[in-house]
Amino acid sequence: MTVMTSQAVRIDQHGGPEELKLVEVQVGEPGPGQIRIRHKAIGLNFIDVYQRSGLYPMSMPLQLGMEASGIVEAVGEGVTHLQPGDRAAYASQPPGSYCEVRVMPAKCVCRLPDAISFETGAAMMLKGLTAQYLLRRVQPQGGLLPGDFVLFHAAAGGVGLIACQWAKALGLQLIGTAGSDEKCALAKANGAAFVINYTTEDFVARVKEITGGQGVKVVYDSVGKDTFERSLDCLRPFGLMASFGNASGPVPPVAPGLLAAKGSLYLTRQTLFSHITTRETTQEMADDLFGMVTSGKIVIRIDQRFALADVAEAHRTLEARKTTGCTILTL
Ligand SMILES: NC(=O)c1ccc[n+]([C@@H]2O[C@H](COP(=O)([O-])OP(=O)(O)OC[C@H]3O[C@@H](n4cnc5c(N)ncnc54)[C@H](OP(=O)(O)O)[C@@H]3O)[C@@H](O)[C@H]2O)c1
Repeated sequence: MTVMTSQAVRIDQHGGPEELKLVEVQVGEPGPGQIRIRHKAIGLNFIDVYQRSGLYPMSMPLQLGMEASGIVEAVGEGVTHLQPGDRAAYASQPPGSYCEVRVMPAKCVCRLPDAISFETGAAMMLKGLTAQYLLRRVQPQGGLLPGDFVLFHAAAGGVGLIACQWAKALGLQLIGTAGSDEKCALAKANGAAFVINYTTEDFVARVKEITGGQGVKVVYDSVGKDTFERSLDCLRPFGLMASFGNASGPVPPVAPGLLAAKGSLYLTRQTLFSHITTRETTQEMADDLFGMVTSGKIVIRIDQRFALADVAEAHRTLEARKTTGCTILTL
């Protein structure tokens, strides 16, 4: 049996970016349903911060990272959709993508179209599949129709800029919020119909103004604690609050009566990992994303690159709200 070594980033306990340690790990052969993949680039995501900090408690030691691209080196028994030599990319559990080479479940690994570079593949899988399910699979009452208003927080971020472009392609009027005027301009340039700087403007009042007092059909809220309750005030009656993250901290418990008082609202807390439970659904969602990218309807912006050894700096930059678009770790 082949055993090789790989550089990998691991934590031994939850904590700050200083817990991220570059270590050498052993990598063996893939078992049934697994592959061994040699990475070309790795995607950085906000979930990596939650798993590092302990907001999402994990067992230790933990090799972080949920997204990457690379070349398949070996496939285990029962894996039929991939072969050694294939270009591939993934968003997948369990964590472990912060490394040069790993063995992992094959189910969520997709062949990467030749027209999509490794860097783009690494940047877009987790964030792009998230934009895909939010806009295409999570539906408000009556569905999403061209012309509908939706509110998307952190619109200049990794998921945000993909969602801006996707919403525009669907004919939606996406109102994007962001933390600076520069970020607002970027969201607008990427397809947001309207933008609000939520650090200087009252976003509830602005949403009411933009929608002629009606409110939006859906709010996509990944900011969490700081925006959740005011986001409910942006919804029209029977509107849908799609909560999907906690960049500012987790949302406190919500009394169902609040949803009645604000217009019989619907509330869902979504995670990508409920959507990509089967190979078929994962591939279907990935094909939708690949189509949007290869047709040029969506451009994946990689605005930050860090060497794998500088991952702590990458985490600090992401947490300090100093990034826009996607961030990758290079090898
Ligand atoms: N549930 C899922 O399936 C799923 C999947 C992927 C991502 N997510 C969530 O979606 C969000 C976006 O993920 P991403 O990886 O693309 O990150 P990102 O949007 O590139 O970065 C997070 C952004 O959140 C905003 N933010 C607001 N308050 C913040 C605070 N107190 N601290 C840090 N950031 C704050 C910042 O933008 P501004 O400066 O413009 O406010 C920041 O740039 C994250 O919350 C992530 O957890 C959820």
